[in-house]
Amino acid sequence: MAGAGHSRLIFALDVPLLEQAEPWVARLAPHVDYFKVGLELFSSAGPEAVRMVTRHGQAGVFLDLKLHDIPTTVGRAACVVRGLGVRMLTVHAQGGRAMLEAAAREAGPDLCLLAVTRLTSQAAAVEEVVELARLAQLAGCGGVVCAGSEAASVRKAVGTDFRIVCPGVRAPGSDRGDQVRAVTPFEAIHAGADYIVVGRPIRDAADPVQAARAISAEVARALAS
Ligand code: C5P
Repeated sequence: MAGAGHSRLIFALDVPLLEQAEPWVARLAPHVDYFKVGLELFSSAGPEAVRMVTRHGQAGVFLDLKLHDIPTTVGRAACVVRGLGVRMLTVHAQGGRAMLEAAAREAGPDLCLLAVTRLTSQAAAVEEVVELARLAQLAGCGGVVCAGSEAASVRKAVGTDFRIVCPGVRAPGSDRGDQVRAVTPFEAIHAGADYIVVGRPIRDAADPVQAARAISAEVARALAS
């Protein structure tokens, strides 16, 4: 289920300008499977951000727009996003079944629709996250976004053929601060995540390429365990 490079790593391009994003893509493209384009960069650069990543090689684009609107609107947006060549798109699971079904229908087989269960910045009961993951699966989504601490329960509920993507990952040994739901890359993959989303632990590292490599090594260790 891994993408281009099988690193299972998604790097979050959390910068406001295309000119700031491109050097990161050039530098990290050999080390990650996907680049996450979020609200900040997409608000500034739009589809050009998607085209810029695509120009740099094999890494795919994960468009993290967390769509949440009436079914027709979200479905039509998913149709446009599919046309951009994006490989993963997020919607909010809390938008409900009809919205998820409309989005999944328009996404088609080549755009993996991921339902965000609960934001990892919010408290959430694991049962609630599992319920939302089940709903997303029934509605035809390709996977979910959830915290690493919930990945094992979600995996048990949805089986193997459903993508689990975990943000809020912290490098081993780093300060987790008040992020009670943060886990290490090893823990997330070991729990059943297919991909981990990492931003600041790579972006703020003295040597970002080395940080990405170290995280990939953790991922490989988890896959082999
Ligand atoms: O914290 P970090 O910089 O690694 O975050 C990377 C991405 O993961 C962010 O773009 C954000 O969307 C997501 N994230 C999250 N929950 C957190 C921390 C980050 O969903 N607690």
